Amino acid sequence: RKKITLPTLLAMHRRHDPITMLTAHDFPSAHLADVAGMDMILVGDSLAMVALGMDDTSEVRLDEMILHCRSVARGAKASFLVGDLPMGSYEVSPEQALESSIRVVKEGRVHAVKLEGGAEMAGQIRKITTAGVAVLAHIGLTPQRQNALGGFRVQGKSTTGALKVLRDAIAVQEAGAFGVVLEAIPADVATLVTKKLRIPTIGIGAGNGCSGQVLVQMDMVGNFPPGRFLPKFVKKYGHVWGEAARAVEAYRVEVKDRSYPAPEHTYPMAKEEFLEFER
Ligand code: KIV
Ligand code: NA
Repeated sequence: RKKITLPTLLAMHRRHDPITMLTAHDFPSAHLADVAGMDMILVGDSLAMVALGMDDTSEVRLDEMILHCRSVARGAKASFLVGDLPMGSYEVSPEQALESSIRVVKEGRVHAVKLEGGAEMAGQIRKITTAGVAVLAHIGLTPQRQNALGGFRVQGKSTTGALKVLRDAIAVQEAGAFGVVLEAIPADVATLVTKKLRIPTIGIGAGNGCSGQVLVQMDMVGNFPPGRFLPKFVKKYGHVWGEAARAVEAYRVEVKDRSYPAPEHTYPMAKEEFLEFER
C-alpha cells in the first residue's frame, strides 16, 4: 500500500472519497488499522480510558502520549498518523502548544497533531502550522472539557449552538488546520458545516455528511469488558472481548484438568537419555 500523505488526503477530499480514520494506541492495534487500509490512524487521548484504565482523558500526560505514539508509529507503514495533544500541553500559550507538538511529532514519530477547541485555539493552530507541523482540529463535544461542558453532551443542538460550531470550524480552517474532527453534533449541522468548509471534516457522532469518519478502535471491535458505557454513535462491529475471554477461560480449565500442555506442546527426550538421567 502506498503511503498516505497530506496531499493524498486532500485529493481524496476533493473527489469526495470518504476518509477512513481509526484510533490505535500500541503496535498491534496500529498494525491492524494499517493493514486494514485506514487512511488515518489517530493516537487519541481516549487511550487514557481504553488502554490505561483512567477515568477520563484529562489524566494522561504528554510523555505517556508520546510513548504510545512511538509504538503506533512502529506498527503502521502507510496510514497517516495523528497524535492527540493531551489536556494541559497546549492551552496556556501558542508557544507551549508548539513545543508540545514538536515533541509529539519528533519523539512520537507521528505526522500531525490534534488539539481540542475552536476560535479560542486559533492562535495555537496558527503557531503550530506556521512552524510546519500539520494540525487536525477537534470541535463540538471536546472530551477534555467534559467537566466544563457538564458531561458528554451533544453540542450544536440549538441555533446558537450550531452557529458556534460553524464559527469554530471556520476559525480553525482560517488558522491553518488541515481538517477538523466534529464530535457529537446533529447530522444536519455537520453536513452544512462540511459544505461551508474547504478542509475535510472527520465525523464521530456527526452523521454521514462529513468528509470522513473516526471511531475508537477498542469500542468498534468490541474489545472492552461488559458494562462499559458506549455512546449512541458507536457501532460495535465485533466481539473481541468475548473471544479473548473465552480463550482465557479455556486455558484456565485445561491447566486445572492437565489437558494442557498436550504432547504436541511438549519437548520430548530420547528414552535412553532419560533413563541415564534418572539413574
Ligand atoms: O481520543 C480520541 O479517540 C478522539 C476521537 C474520539 C476523535 O479524540
Ligand atoms: Na481525543
